[in-house]
Amino acid sequence: MSADTPLMKEPDANSDANPAADGSELIRFDKVTKRFGDNVVLDGLDFSVASGKHVTLIGPSGSGKTTILRLLMTLAKPDEGTIKVNGDYLTHEEKNGKLVPAGEKHIREVRKNIGMVFQQFNLFPNMKVLRNITEAPVTVLGMSKDAAEERARELLELVGLTEHVDKYPSQLSGGQQQRVAIARALAMRPQVLLLDEVTSALDPELVAGVLDVLRDIARTTDITMLCVTHEMNFARDISDQVLMFDSGRVLESGPPEKIFGDPEHERTREFLGAVL
Ligand SMILES: Nc1ncnc2c1ncn2[C@@H]1O[C@H](COP(=O)(O)OP(=O)(O)OP(=O)(O)O)[C@@H](O)[C@H]1O
Ligand SMILES: [Mg+2]
Repeated sequence: MSADTPLMKEPDANSDANPAADGSELIRFDKVTKRFGDNVVLDGLDFSVASGKHVTLIGPSGSGKTTILRLLMTLAKPDEGTIKVNGDYLTHEEKNGKLVPAGEKHIREVRKNIGMVFQQFNLFPNMKVLRNITEAPVTVLGMSKDAAEERARELLELVGLTEHVDKYPSQLSGGQQQRVAIARALAMRPQVLLLDEVTSALDPELVAGVLDVLRDIARTTDITMLCVTHEMNFARDISDQVLMFDSGRVLESGPPEKIFGDPEHERTREFLGAVL
């Protein structure tokens, strides 16, 4: 990993920024069950995301969408089943041919491939924009300060915030803060970017700017995206695949034209009728 690794798509799509952007399987959930007490939130869930694809999760409130992203960030643990990222078990590791719960070090290594942007931006309030973006690459990845700053400036250009580099988060609008949060996630060069309703806490007039930035990222970078959103036009634009969730299961999945235009299930039609 070097500072001059290209951010943008190169003629050779297998750039260092995303060595597996070749359609191979980047995320796999295998019979994942997650319970909170008696509430079975995910029930033997199987699904996978191919490298470089943009996959959107839709479905009613409480259907388990955020739980899936939290499992990937290891903010929660599955009760049963396994999750693989780039072929490596996330919460397990193989020892002497047996699958055992993973240690912290293993989890940290695998999780390095994953970046997440939340509904609430959670920027470091005491750090200026530039430092918000360089902090983790320097302290976690061991990047030099100069290289991290160069990269941060590239990312600020990508999210359209070049002139705000010296401001504190409190001096920015919600939409601008969310764009910093996106740049901060990308600074760690994750292979997959998880986005959980990243515009739902924003004033309506700020939503379009953030969605435009995400559209740009989807169009110009190799990064894999797993996205929970209620913005159905956005989902239609960027998604290679849409998964409709209901009660912790994938009710149906397919390209956006199919799910939005001609869904199989009445439940999907009902849900889309309510949100579109
Ligand atoms: N930490 C927790 N403790 C107990 N129950 C939880 C916890 N986190 C989630 N749940 C429950 O798990 C279910 C799924 O929640 P989740 O947040 O994944 O839904 P969601 O699909 O993201 O919904 P929304 O569209 O409202 O964000 C809900 O019934 C929720 O109450
Ligand atoms: Mg949610």
